[in-house]
Amino acid sequence: PQEEAQEQDLAGVKVVVSAGPTREYLDPVRFVSNPSSGKMGFAVAQAAAGRGADVTLVSGPVHLATPAGVRRVDIESALDLRDAVLQAAQDADLVVMTAAVADYRAADVKTEKEAKGGETKTIELVKNPDILAELGADKGKRVLVGFAMETHAGVERAADKARRKNADFILLNYPTQEGTAFGGDDNQVTLVRADGTHEAWPRLSKREVAERLLDRAGQLLPAARL
Ligand code: CTP
Ligand code: CA
Repeated sequence: PQEEAQEQDLAGVKVVVSAGPTREYLDPVRFVSNPSSGKMGFAVAQAAAGRGADVTLVSGPVHLATPAGVRRVDIESALDLRDAVLQAAQDADLVVMTAAVADYRAADVKTEKEAKGGETKTIELVKNPDILAELGADKGKRVLVGFAMETHAGVERAADKARRKNADFILLNYPTQEGTAFGGDDNQVTLVRADGTHEAWPRLSKREVAERLLDRAGQLLPAARL
């Protein structure tokens, strides 16, 4: 099989990958979330494990099997994702944030199911912490990779995110391409750095995107790690 023949170029490298959506509960039976499938993050975890890395996969609720040799931590909310990622990232060499983190959570989570009320309803939300930015603020020698889906001004917005969050690069994609992004098996991404330099990759399977991501991230790892 392919796995056995693979070069173990990430042996001894500690990798943390976040994947899938978060759920922000409003009450015990309702939440705010998004359609992230988790496929991109699971592909990164699988590829990294195949190359010999020590992989922790922090995952929101998704319908995917855990890749062989990967340590999986399941979470639901952005706050729980934050705790799990920061914990696992302490001695990590590479952190890849593919998770579609909800930007806001309910200001007040009801402990009992809310009954239906009037014709309109307003829910107050408060901002969630930015996990990638927190990692970037205390970056150390870690390599940090983010993902961003944009509908417009993609390169500019992704470069700005890389700068603000102190990420080594962001893989940018657009929600409009058939079979890519949310739920699809392929992805068409552009690697964007903080200085605005970028390279568009062809449409590839998510596994191939994962392998290229690891090639690029691997080049940035301190030589002593490899
Ligand atoms: N991210 C994160 N914590 C958050 C939000 C986002 O770690 N609270 C990470 C994502 O996992 C992703 C990167 O930041 O790797 C970019 O996510 P994105 O939603 O595009 O960034 P935002 O800063 O939330 O920008 P926007 O206002 O466009 O949603
Ligand atoms: Ca966001």
